[in-house]
Amino acid sequence: MMTEENVLEALKNVIYPGFTKDIVTFGFVKDIVVEEKTVGIMLDITSSAEELHEELKTKATEALKKAGFEEIHVNITAPQAPKQMSNSVSGKNIAPHIKNFVMVSSGKGGVGKSTTSVNLAIALAMQGKKVGLLDADIYGPNIPRMMGVDGQKPEIEGNKLQPLKAYGVEIMSMGSIMEEGVALIWRGSMIMKAIEQFLRDILWSELDVLVIDMPPGTGDAQLSLAQSVPITAGITVTTPQEVSLDDSRRSLNMFKKLDIPTAGIIENMSGFICPSCDEESDIFGMGTSAAVAKEFETELMTRIPIEPAIRIGGDTGMPVAYHKPDSETGKRYQEAATKLWEFIDKVNAEGGADNSGVQPTTPPGVSACSTGGAAATPAKEVPETKAPAKAAEGESCGTGCGCH
Ligand SMILES: Nc1ncnc2c1ncn2[C@@H]1O[C@H](COP(=O)(O)OP(=O)(O)OP(=O)(O)O)[C@@H](O)[C@H]1O
Ligand SMILES: [Mg+2]
Repeated sequence: MMTEENVLEALKNVIYPGFTKDIVTFGFVKDIVVEEKTVGIMLDITSSAEELHEELKTKATEALKKAGFEEIHVNITAPQAPKQMSNSVSGKNIAPHIKNFVMVSSGKGGVGKSTTSVNLAIALAMQGKKVGLLDADIYGPNIPRMMGVDGQKPEIEGNKLQPLKAYGVEIMSMGSIMEEGVALIWRGSMIMKAIEQFLRDILWSELDVLVIDMPPGTGDAQLSLAQSVPITAGITVTTPQEVSLDDSRRSLNMFKKLDIPTAGIIENMSGFICPSCDEESDIFGMGTSAAVAKEFETELMTRIPIEPAIRIGGDTGMPVAYHKPDSETGKRYQEAATKLWEFIDKVNAEGGADNSGVQPTTPPGVSACSTGGAAATPAKEVPETKAPAKAAEGESCGTGCGCH
């Protein structure tokens, strides 16, 4: 005799795509009806992506078949396609209760995006804003350690997740959901789903701003994010060497192509503050990104020197913005946060960010970049920018989607 228990046992083998937990643990399985070898189940999920529904149906059916059921009915209930809350008719915002989104990007890895995101988020919170910090670096999530919440697991509520919290900032990261040390290979469509779930299935408060730490470069994650929510401000983090500046041009170009208003450049590892004498010396160069900022009609928001306290703060989960607010770098993060907020105010006063020009013409759940680009041109032709030829060459997608 087959029972409800057999059904639940079988469905525990079905992992919710993009996460490590199964659909039973997430509480998605509702209304089980069993009769002999016939079973009907209802899955109540939070995503409206058709592709995900199909994947779950197939997997659940397979699992139930394996358990010995012969006739299997899997129904799915899900919210209607997300509410459109943008000023424009065709823009998209899948997290409308978050007022502003800041994308922290860089052309290359290791320049200090995560460090900047952490300290900026904390500085904004210290200025009285309601702040969230999303670690969208699904390949190498570093935010939990830097915010001192590594090892903590988010609480499940219904079929959503509560963000973690530290230093007055709400936090979510793939590192808090996946098992430690898991190496990940993501396809474009999976990245898109993960990003969507981070915005839709996390119980963020009504935030003034969500700071989003991106993986390095310009790819699927950046595009998916820009298509899902209107990004109010883009920040490029760079180090002062010319080679790094070349890469940061690519990041600034991406902002243009994705219609993201550019708040400016943060020049990190700019000079060195010697801990024993407090004097600043030049290592990689200083202030070299000012020229790039000018080229892109944006500003150099602040320069953050190399300071051992920053690295130690990151490694030990005690960020300088909070623990050393009176240090030179602590003050500079505050300065950058103030400038960022002025910029956000200005963008909103001028009508707000608008992502209608970057919406895909492909079906939902399929990333424009991951399809090779040809079938997935953004709705609007993106105008060529005046950026140097070198940066333009970096874009091999050829459709103006900002990926390469
Ligand atoms: N101004 C600084 N002074 C000293 N150490 C720093 C500074 N900025 C960053 N670091 C250290 O450099 C390392 C790399 O920084 P971080 O992880 O923030 O870079 P990232 O751009 O996010 O890297 P990835 O591209 O891998 O995500 C970290 O150990 C961090 O603590
Ligand atoms: Mg990082």
